[in-house]
Amino acid sequence: MIIAIDGPAASGKGTLGKRLAHHYGYRHLDTGVIYRAVAKALLDLGADLTDEALAVAVASELDPEKFGNPALKTQEVGDAASVVSAIPRVREVLLNFQRRFAEDPPGAVLDGRDIGTVICPHADVKIFVVADARVRARRRTLEALGRGEVADEAAVLADIIRRDERDQNRPIAPLKPATDAYLLDNSNLDIEGGVRAAIDIVEAVRAGR
Ligand code: DC
Repeated sequence: MIIAIDGPAASGKGTLGKRLAHHYGYRHLDTGVIYRAVAKALLDLGADLTDEALAVAVASELDPEKFGNPALKTQEVGDAASVVSAIPRVREVLLNFQRRFAEDPPGAVLDGRDIGTVICPHADVKIFVVADARVRARRRTLEALGRGEVADEAAVLADIIRRDERDQNRPIAPLKPATDAYLLDNSNLDIEGGVRAAIDIVEAVRAGR
């Protein structure tokens, strides 16, 4: 069983992915952290984010043990990840890791931008999460403040809009719903409401409705 969750920055897909995986006893992969890890390594090296050869080399040597590093969560790294992830060869190098993760039993939930369209086009259930950009900016700002970081909501909103635009308009694996994805609008739902809606979608698909 593979559940694919895609959606724009800060739409809540990560939380939904984690909660769905817990609910069904499946493994969970937040694929954004993979691109964030590549971006962070380049930033640490002081390298150009569009240096294809270096980005590919870094992507080939990633250590999944480090995907939990909280330093990957910052807005700066997210923005850099959006740039690095537009390099086709970087995506190519990271494809097999994601597919292998998806296929291992008993099941997996992957969230990202291209899970339903490119990584797992045969996923059993595809959910595309959307939420109003202002709501997403508010949530991201509160999260950052909660971590003790400085966060300006207007700047967060501008970053989210810029990132969505870049992710949607890149030529390779752009952010878009798969034709067979179920849309989940998370704008007016709290976490529990979103989780309930996602479980309802999975159950409806499993029941063949
Ligand atoms: O979901 P996130 O904010 O952690 O993702 C960071 C960036 O990584 C995002 O702006 C685009 C890129 N990304 C991607 O291209 N494909 C994915 N499956 C996941 C993330």
